[in-house]
Formats: sequence, structure tokens, C-alpha cells
Amino acid sequence: MIEGTSAYCIKKEPSLDRLRESFKVINRNVTHAQKILNDLLDFARPKPLKTRPYKINNVIERAISLVTIDLERCNVTLSMNLCSPSPIVACDEKQLNQVFLDLVWNARQAMPNGGSLTISTSVNSSPPAELLHPGDTCPKRQEEMQQFVKISFSDSGVGIDEKSIKKIFEPFYTSKPKGLGLGLSICKRIIHAHGGTITVESKHGEGTTISIFLPVESYS
Ligand SMILES: Nc1ncnc2c1ncn2[C@@H]1O[C@H](COP(=O)(O)OP(=O)(O)OP(=O)(O)O)[C@@H](O)[C@H]1O
Ligand SMILES: [Mg+2]
Repeated sequence: MIEGTSAYCIKKEPSLDRLRESFKVINRNVTHAQKILNDLLDFARPKPLKTRPYKINNVIERAISLVTIDLERCNVTLSMNLCSPSPIVACDEKQLNQVFLDLVWNARQAMPNGGSLTISTSVNSSPPAELLHPGDTCPKRQEEMQQFVKISFSDSGVGIDEKSIKKIFEPFYTSKPKGLGLGLSICKRIIHAHGGTITVESKHGEGTTISIFLPVESYS
């Protein structure tokens, strides 16, 4: 697409409007190619965590502020319901940012005609075992009294059928024509590296909730 569009611009001497349109196509495709390359690199060579204690509410708000305009443009109504006081989590903000943006992106893609996305947090003592993905393990750092913050992304999108739900965290599983299928497997690896876990609940045709559980250090 990039090659074809740029070749057209070089050969055909297009008008300024056509040129602008062509650059938009090139720009979209470069962004897509960049995401594929970054995901492949992250998958092949996971980055070590650089953790620091953060108020998790601030980490979520900073990440989501990057996509609010885009969500509005796509008719997605965003609601945030963050518990107070904010749990403090030892985390790598950059890597969690990537997880949150991937989950929002998946939710957006599941609502091509718009819908609602609710991001909420609550504090649980541990993730419910029945929500753990088959083959998944409970968080390594789970001790008797370890508290976990649950961060849920609930959308009103197309949902996932029972057969596919088992596969969504597998590398290269995708139901999208242009998907690579690495987003959720990278999210899972990042969350596990934080001593947490990630779960899914979904009803085909009704929506999906992806929840992340992270160990809490303290509260602020
Ligand atoms: N919020 C959601 N609603 C419905 N289906 C979802 C949702 N999130 C993930 N899925 C399903 O899980 C699959 C895997 O998701 P994942 O993010 O790993 O890959 P992808 O989105 O297909 O491609 P990539 O993220 O690499 O661009 C998706 O193709 C889709 O079928
Ligand atoms: Mg994805």
C-alpha cells in the first residue's frame, strides 16, 4: 500500500488534494506497520521491567488521556470509575501504558459503530480462580493477605464466542483481517511479570470485560 501510493505520487503528478489524500493513506499504513514491528519486537525480546511505586489511578488516567479524543470521534462513551484512595502498585508505567492502550484499542475495534467503555478499579484479596484462563496460573506473589487491585475494561462491543475465548491470549490468534494477534499475549506477559494476572469474561453479541489484577503495595 505504501509502495503503491508513493509510486502513484511520483509518477502521476497528482493535485494537491490527491497528494494530501495519498499522504493520509501512507501515514495510516506507516502507523500500522510500526505497531506490527513493535509488537513483533516486544514478543521476540521482552523488555525488563523498570518498576517504581505509582498511584495506579494516575497511571490509568495518564494512559487514557491519550485516547479520549479518539474514543469521542468513534462515538465511544467513556466512563471511569476509579476507587479512592488510589492503590499504590510497583509497576513499569511505560509497559502498563502499552497494556491499557492495547485493551482500549481492542474495545474500540469491537465497537465499530460506537458504544460504551467503562474502566473501573476495585480492591480484591485475589483474582477469582474460575476467571483464570485455562493453563494460566495464580499470581506468583499471591500470599495469604496480598491485596490485588482489579482494573476492568468493560465494553458493549461484539463480544467473543465460547470457542474463541479460550484462544484470545495465544500468540498470533486473531479474528481481524489486519490483526497480528500479539496484543493480548504481550499484555498477559507484562501483567504476569508484575506478579499479576489477566482474565476475560464475555458474552457473544453483548460485550467483553478484560480484567487485570495487580498486587497492591499500599494506599494513598
Ligand atoms: N474487547 C474485545 N471484544 C471482542 N473481542 C476481543 C476483544 N479483545 C480481544 N478480542 C479478541 O481477541 C483476539 C486477540 O486479540 P489481540 O489483541 O491479541 O490481537 P488482535 O487485536 O487481533 O491483533 P493485534 O492486537 O496484534 O493488532 C482479537 O482478534 C479478538 O477476536
Ligand atoms: Mg489487539
